[in-house]
Amino acid sequence: MSYLTRIFSTGAVRKTPDRIIEKMAAAVNLHEQSIILEFGAGKGEITEKVFSKKSELKIHYHAFELNHDFAAQLRKDFPGITIFRENAFAFREHLPKSLKADHIICSIPLSFYGSRAAGRLATDMKEVLSKGGRIQILFHAIWLIPVLKRALPGSKLISFATFPPYFLIDYTDKN
Ligand SMILES: C[S@@+](CC[C@H](N)C(=O)[O-])C[C@H]1O[C@@H](n2cnc3c(N)ncnc32)[C@H](O)[C@@H]1O
Repeated sequence: MSYLTRIFSTGAVRKTPDRIIEKMAAAVNLHEQSIILEFGAGKGEITEKVFSKKSELKIHYHAFELNHDFAAQLRKDFPGITIFRENAFAFREHLPKSLKADHIICSIPLSFYGSRAAGRLATDMKEVLSKGGRIQILFHAIWLIPVLKRALPGSKLISFATFPPYFLIDYTDKN
């Protein structure tokens, strides 16, 4: 299953480069009963790196992936993870209202959906974040930088000089 052959349904031309995945996974601090959300899990490249850090810990990992084939494969590969074959923009409809996430990872092709939807999703992520929780949003569209920074004030921006270029918004709750 390749991303390129499914570009119109997944918005992805390639899997995220390994060094970006390593950086994102290294930023995830897991503890007993951690709640992790992932949007756009694809073939599980980031999922695998984060989930493998859990060792003996009991964590709650919920991944959203819209593509039918990818979601089916994720269910087989990660029986310990709840896979939602649902639109991540509506993630709150599928999770308990009281849920607070410790870490949220998003690598869906936000530019496909426009700045209003991207800003709304980032705000929704912030609203479900636990105290001291962290959000990482990976994207390509330079014009989304101000949108995401506005929704997540105080977030850091990291740029990766790859082709296509990748940007990572990294937000930590300071309340
Ligand atoms: C760029 S790929 C990322 C795959 C993998 N996480 C990685 O980093 O290599 C984006 C993934 O997001 C999924 N996707 C796109 N729109 C989505 C949406 N609205 N809700 C959930 N998943 C979505 C696509 O099917 C695709 O698998």
